Amino acid sequence: MRQPALTTTAAYQALAAHHIDIQDKTLRQLFAAEPQRFADMSLDAAGLYLDYSKNRLTADTIALLANLARTRGLVQRRDAMFAGEKINTTEGRAVLHTALRMPRGKELNVAGQDVAADVHAVLDRVRVFTDKVRNGSWLGHNGKAITDIVNIGIGGSDLGPKMACLALRSYAHPRLKMHFVSNVDGHDLDAVLAQVNPDSTLFIIASKTFTTAETMLNAQTARSWFLQHGTEAALAKHFVAVSTNTQAVTAFGIDADNMFPFWDWVGGRYSVWSAIGLPVALAVGFGYFSDFLAGAHELDEHFRIAPLEQNLPVLLALIGFWNRQFLGCASLSIAPYHQDLNRFPAYLQQLDMESNGKRVTRNGAPVDTPTCPVVWGECGTNAQHAYFQLLHQGSDIVPMDFIAALRPTHDHPGHHDALLANCFAQSEAFMTGKTEDEVRAELKAQGLPAAQIDELAPHKTFPGNRPSNTILVDVLSPAALGALIALYEHKTFVQGVLWDVNSFDQWGVELGKVLAKNIQSELTGEAQPARHDSSTNGLIALAKAAQNL
Ligand code: F6P
Repeated sequence: MRQPALTTTAAYQALAAHHIDIQDKTLRQLFAAEPQRFADMSLDAAGLYLDYSKNRLTADTIALLANLARTRGLVQRRDAMFAGEKINTTEGRAVLHTALRMPRGKELNVAGQDVAADVHAVLDRVRVFTDKVRNGSWLGHNGKAITDIVNIGIGGSDLGPKMACLALRSYAHPRLKMHFVSNVDGHDLDAVLAQVNPDSTLFIIASKTFTTAETMLNAQTARSWFLQHGTEAALAKHFVAVSTNTQAVTAFGIDADNMFPFWDWVGGRYSVWSAIGLPVALAVGFGYFSDFLAGAHELDEHFRIAPLEQNLPVLLALIGFWNRQFLGCASLSIAPYHQDLNRFPAYLQQLDMESNGKRVTRNGAPVDTPTCPVVWGECGTNAQHAYFQLLHQGSDIVPMDFIAALRPTHDHPGHHDALLANCFAQSEAFMTGKTEDEVRAELKAQGLPAAQIDELAPHKTFPGNRPSNTILVDVLSPAALGALIALYEHKTFVQGVLWDVNSFDQWGVELGKVLAKNIQSELTGEAQPARHDSSTNGLIALAKAAQNL
């Protein structure tokens, strides 16, 4: 159904009017007026706890936002996604990452095919293979057990498994060391090859298309490096592939028996649940990998069934939309207070920005509001000592998602309380700030003279009133991580529905790929330099001169 332009809808206009009504209310005032605010604005599902009370909104705001989501067809589009309809219209594909985490025995028929059965057939192969590598019965070409696994992939074929392997570090096999090579920059592969022994290394070439230039070059170089030590016949013990493209995999020299397939209905950035998650299954074992899938499935069920106003991913999406549209916040900062979630902000960058970094609707009309904010972040407490200054006192308001586990997976005394204290203190400080009067009273109590108080007070004043969510898990278990990722996947989907963009294509990445190919042939001298602009021509000339070309 063709959606009317967002700002012309009655539901959007009701929100705009409501924003005018409440825009002057501060978070301090909202908390003072609503003693039950935390209880009313926090909820849990699938092992995740969300506190959204520190946002500049009221229960009426949520009701109006949910109404907008309904009128944008969220319920119908959600159901269409779960049912396997081709909601990725520009590529003519279904979007079925949710099928990847359906429990065994459940059916999902799409165009006469039980895709859930297909998923479990591949999972069975993943179980057999990962068991062999983990128990040491998968041997390298000269009889050594595998000690190092090198995943070669980029984008969704790298970010998800890399993030999850780090996040589940405490559950990992002690013998297996995981490495990830993504960048076409040879320094990336070089650094990993310097650490591994070809006799005990397994390479996973992970690429949905098996045509991505960076991955293919890294894979070829890794293959050549291996062949300096082993024979062609030995490759089968050291190279496996994860892809949808059997032809290209076999052309590369990897036997179809050593290929773990997935399907075109799995988007790259939604693929960690598929065989692209092979490094995760190798690291933590198939049992924990199944828990990871089960955690995501529990969140899927919550998303599918819970009323919109009590639906975790929907709420997260509605709040983010409110901050973007009505508070004008152009970025979202992710602050995991858990070192093992170090790569989670990077993972979310692709998930969110590749999905909703769009400016036209599904029908090609311009979206008449801003869309996806810039997503960025870093682990606390490190981030506090880097850029939190701007978040506290800078001129832009940057909403924050704080993420933490109530219990650690280590047993070093003192650390976890210190970590959580910082996490909670920061969200409190962002909310309450410190008024100039409070600062003056504080300085006076310290005995400072009036002139010095006048001088210092503006610098020590914090505006506060800065919105944040806090998301807690009990412990960062495989199931909790699965639910956390699924939470953000569905959040991204809901925001795409609100803006009416296709969250599942990524045409914007293409232009750079084509231009890079042209310039590469100019750099190597295969093609005559094209007439670029003077800057690009100048840079090409410098690079060629450096290589005496
Ligand atoms: O960056 C564009 C992109 O297509 C991503 O969407 C994808 O995750 C990545 O490239 C890698 O693609 P592939 O798995 O096909 O190598």
